[in-house]
Amino acid sequence: MKKLLVTGASGFLGWNVFKVQPPDWRLIGTWNKHEDGLWPRSENYQLDLRDKDAVWKCLKEINPDAVLHLAAFSDTNFCEENPEKAKELNVDATATLAGMCADRHVHLLFTSSEQVFDGTKEAYQESDAPNPKNEYGRQKLEAEQLVQAIYPEASVVRISVMYGLASAARPGFLQKWLDAWQHFFPVKAFYDEYRSFLGGASAARGLFHLLGQQASGIFHIGGDQGLSRYDLALLVKERFRLEHAPVEICSQKDVNMPAFRPPRLVLDNSLIAGTGFQPMPLDQELDALVQEFKLPPPFSDN
Ligand SMILES: NC(=O)c1ccc[n+]([C@@H]2O[C@H](COP(=O)([O-])OP(=O)(O)OC[C@H]3O[C@@H](n4cnc5c(N)ncnc54)[C@H](OP(=O)(O)O)[C@@H]3O)[C@@H](O)[C@H]2O)c1
Repeated sequence: MKKLLVTGASGFLGWNVFKVQPPDWRLIGTWNKHEDGLWPRSENYQLDLRDKDAVWKCLKEINPDAVLHLAAFSDTNFCEENPEKAKELNVDATATLAGMCADRHVHLLFTSSEQVFDGTKEAYQESDAPNPKNEYGRQKLEAEQLVQAIYPEASVVRISVMYGLASAARPGFLQKWLDAWQHFFPVKAFYDEYRSFLGGASAARGLFHLLGQQASGIFHIGGDQGLSRYDLALLVKERFRLEHAPVEICSQKDVNMPAFRPPRLVLDNSLIAGTGFQPMPLDQELDALVQEFKLPPPFSDN
């Protein structure tokens, strides 16, 4: 069985990667501060990726066939306000890991983001020129370029903003909406933030698809359709049968945020589709989540 080292296994996507783990991979996940973010009883390794000696020791001890690099400071506002701290992990540690993987001839898949784009195009293909508009996007782009220069055989996968289920340590925004509705609080949702929202499980399946092919180069994985955060909130209400859950429509301008958020970021999936992978359609993925979310009363009455 092939061995996969997953950095950032205690994060949102890491949890989903362990959830959809195919039988031909043995997974070992790293965590830094949140052991409680790990998938229950998963094989794990505590690692601060900023510590080069520790990273080398980890690679030597585990001797993986491939590394799936998810660990990052992924909060755009945090990166905007703490650029140096974020860069140590998002850029410097990523470059170090790429160098070590190249030295050891271990395949590397690095996860990047839609935020490398500026939001001026209808939908972005891999060949489109990046032009990040916030610090997180700039760091992800710098890391992409370093990974490709250091280890050209690596793959770089840009992912759209994800929804879904994860651990209590890293609830995604969907969980936060459901929690708010459970307490009869309204959810505020932007009508002017348009994204190809991607299910965490679909994202993880797409990553395993590319790992299985040892693909090199840049790939996009986005959801099957673009819609505003407000329209997504209405759809979630409908699929979860929460007709009375309150949603307040608002504009990005109504909320003071440190990081600029491009109004429209949609990733074109044609390239990965050509290799045989399609993310689950939004309606179906939401319906699958309805079955998985343990909704407490009063939801259970719906
Ligand atoms: N979430 C999204 O919607 C989204 C969208 C597009 C792209 N992405 C990309 O997808 C990847 C995964 O994102 P995510 O949402 O799963 O991130 P996340 O939930 O914020 O998790 C971040 C992970 O990084 C780990 N980490 C933080 N500091 C570390 C350090 N010094 N050393 C080692 N590990 C450290 C965390 O470990 P501890 O918690 O244990 O400290 C955690 O496992 C990232 O590359 C992100 O840029 C995410």
